[in-house]
Amino acid sequence: MEIIIQPDKAAAVDLTARIVDRRIREKPKFVLGLATGRTMEPVYAELVRRHREEGLDFSQVHTFNLDEYVGLPPEHDQSYRYFMNQQLFDHINIPPANTRLPDGMATDIPAECAAFEAEIAALGGVDLQLLGIGSDGHIGFNEPMSAIRSRTRIKTLTRETVEQNGPLFGDPGLMPKHALTMGVGTILESEQCLMLVTGAGKADIVAEALEGPISSMVTASALQLHPRTVVILDEAAAAKLTRSDYYRWTYDNKPAWQRLD
Ligand code: GLP
Repeated sequence: MEIIIQPDKAAAVDLTARIVDRRIREKPKFVLGLATGRTMEPVYAELVRRHREEGLDFSQVHTFNLDEYVGLPPEHDQSYRYFMNQQLFDHINIPPANTRLPDGMATDIPAECAAFEAEIAALGGVDLQLLGIGSDGHIGFNEPMSAIRSRTRIKTLTRETVEQNGPLFGDPGLMPKHALTMGVGTILESEQCLMLVTGAGKADIVAEALEGPISSMVTASALQLHPRTVVILDEAAAAKLTRSDYYRWTYDNKPAWQRLD
């Protein structure tokens, strides 16, 4: 795992977008794993800017999103399909058919989850998976006690997650209690994972996930098992790490050919 600490949120966002940009230019038929959440909004804005102003081409890119609420139609303004269309897909040249989220309206949920996994496999797997972290340490919607080998499936959301995301629904009671999510095992099969975390509110859970034991109670900690995970933090999110001097030292001394941006 490589931990990169940036001076502020803007720099962390910019580095994340630069890495995505570089990887897509290297491999135009790229399979990009996407995440939702407020943390990702400025990343998508920067990718849109790079598309408009710098010719970043998404015409051959395929995307797979981590998760989707159960029971929200695509036109619901809190569905992750709606979020992705608004934040990214409607503003770039990606063919809509190349954008895939789990279908939270599916009547046969196990069949939908199996189809989602099969589509990832048919494209040769995810090249780069973007991730955020929930306040309970989840990646995707892999809530505590999600098996480290889990696959795409339905999960019941924790009270903490409902408290974190509920206000976005206006009335928190309207937030679904279930979601379809890539499993931790699915995520770990991505060729590379890139987790972005900003803000002081995530500092405790970041330290637990990155420096604590690998545990299904904090599913982001499973990224410690992944040989090519990059974590980009701003100073505020990195504040509770005990070895941050070492992470800075490693990054500052990284050979130029190994740099990602
Ligand atoms: C949701 C998503 C996660 C995301 C998390 C963080 O729970 N399912 O994939 O990482 O939100 O959200 P935010 O960036 O808004 O803090």
